[in-house]
Amino acid sequence: MKNWWDDKVIYQIYPKSFMDSNGDGIGDIPGIISKMDYMKELGVDIVWISPIYESPFIDQGYDISDYRKIAECFGTMEEFELLLEEAKKRDMYIIMDLVINHCSDQHEWFKKALKDPDGRYGKYFYFEKGVNGQPPSNYRSYFGGNMWEEVPGRENLYYLHSFAKQQPDLNWYNQEVLDELYDMVNWWLDKGVAGFRIDAIINIKKNLLFENYEADGPDNLCGVEKIVAGALASKKGPSIGDMLQDLRNNTFKKHDAFTLGEVFNMKEDELKEFIGEDGHFSSIFDFSLHLLTNCEQGWYYAKDVSVKEMKAALIKSQESTKDIGFMTNVVENHDQPRSVDIFIPEWIDKNDGSKLLATSIFLLKGIPCIYQGQELGMTNMDFKRVEDFNDISTLDQYNKGLSLGMTETEAFDMCKKYSRDNARTVMQWDDSAYGGFTTGTPWFWSNQNYKAINAKAQENDPNSVLNYYRKLFALRRNKKYNNIFVYGEFKPIYEDIDDIFAYKRVFCEEEITVISNWGKEAFDIECDKEIILSNKDISSSKNNTNILKIYPGQVVVLH
Ligand code: GLC
Ligand code: CA
Repeated sequence: MKNWWDDKVIYQIYPKSFMDSNGDGIGDIPGIISKMDYMKELGVDIVWISPIYESPFIDQGYDISDYRKIAECFGTMEEFELLLEEAKKRDMYIIMDLVINHCSDQHEWFKKALKDPDGRYGKYFYFEKGVNGQPPSNYRSYFGGNMWEEVPGRENLYYLHSFAKQQPDLNWYNQEVLDELYDMVNWWLDKGVAGFRIDAIINIKKNLLFENYEADGPDNLCGVEKIVAGALASKKGPSIGDMLQDLRNNTFKKHDAFTLGEVFNMKEDELKEFIGEDGHFSSIFDFSLHLLTNCEQGWYYAKDVSVKEMKAALIKSQESTKDIGFMTNVVENHDQPRSVDIFIPEWIDKNDGSKLLATSIFLLKGIPCIYQGQELGMTNMDFKRVEDFNDISTLDQYNKGLSLGMTETEAFDMCKKYSRDNARTVMQWDDSAYGGFTTGTPWFWSNQNYKAINAKAQENDPNSVLNYYRKLFALRRNKKYNNIFVYGEFKPIYEDIDDIFAYKRVFCEEEITVISNWGKEAFDIECDKEIILSNKDISSSKNNTNILKIYPGQVVVLH
């Protein structure tokens, strides 16, 4: 069955850092509207906006205090409705970020719950008594520290938070909570949003006995990932599948909404239930590359990844989706460092590398999803001091590094490489102050390299990363090839050559071949096919023979 989103391209906006329209230093909705044409020209169809709801911004909006209000710093509901209209005019779609595993401790539900933990709103969350003067169980949250926080003014009573303590988990075993959430989701869909990116959703299933687990660190706690895995495996209560189908049937399904799940910890054989026909979601992110670089236990354990590992991971995930559905291909988001600094070997020029990565990833089967600035080849920031970081999880990782024996410099360098803040510096639009993001002072850093890397300069440079992205998406959309790129089967080739990542996409006798060279030496193939795209000048590749030379850092697309 075909769906309206099958052939679409997604662009993620991190609203605080995208475009400021009124000089207060914070990106906003009118700023987004002013860049709709830019995104359209890039070849974007679906715009995913990270949370813009009212929030105390402890976790940059992933802590929502009112699900039906736009945060004042971003604008008004009228401006949001205007954004929906502007999208419609351009045949584009807006999707929101749905953060419903938890809310903010400033949400009125939680404020009421704290006043009366035994009352109606107490049941919206997880409150439990401590054991022997200790929290109810030994769970470590994603951002460090115990997942149980003592209720202020109440002895021996705790509430549960998978993330920061200002993000209490909502109780998905209370029908009243479900009714509130479903109602809210339908309210946004009725307004005209096309769907949602769904945050941290796998965490909603709980082991309600909250038993202790074997500790996995010197803090005597056990990481939340293991707790979640345990809950998912448990046969008690509704399964995660039952819970997600209930959500879908009461909301998304009726609206034919596009839903994109942020799902970790899924069992491999469940892919069909998640994204197959009648799956819980339209698509889920393919995090297989990200999982190679980012270790569950923390950045301390993260390691550099080889081309061979990347290739194996991609082939595995492509083969797993065969005949099932579409994953969403992604190498950057607001939780990751910039892709050129993580995935591109140091012997490849960064501009070539950005294009190489884009071509290799976004011509795979699946829905392309890019993160603001990726289309310019934006890089990690040269942070100077620990105080330069803003992200709540970075400080935790820094301290963890220290506690594991790193020196301050080592721990800082590690954060510099992996911090989520690398992606959160402001967009680089032109070479004026702060990259033209604001006329005031930006809320966060502007990367030092904005004079060299910015959208305006790249508009005028035919060889820029930006213009390459436009060509790439235009190629994907070209009627001649569209079915091959969207529905074509994936077949890896040259699998045994470590530095070459290459594959065919095959649809009804027609095929496209993508060959990328990540190594240090040129790679020759015999070829009489038409080159329809390359990130480097191909005149020296072809030389009037039927030998095609693919240079280090080069990618070619053949028809
Ligand atoms: C997701 C978001 C991340 C956030 C977390 C808690 O992983 O992508 O930014 O911190 O959920 O909502
Ligand atoms: Ca603003």
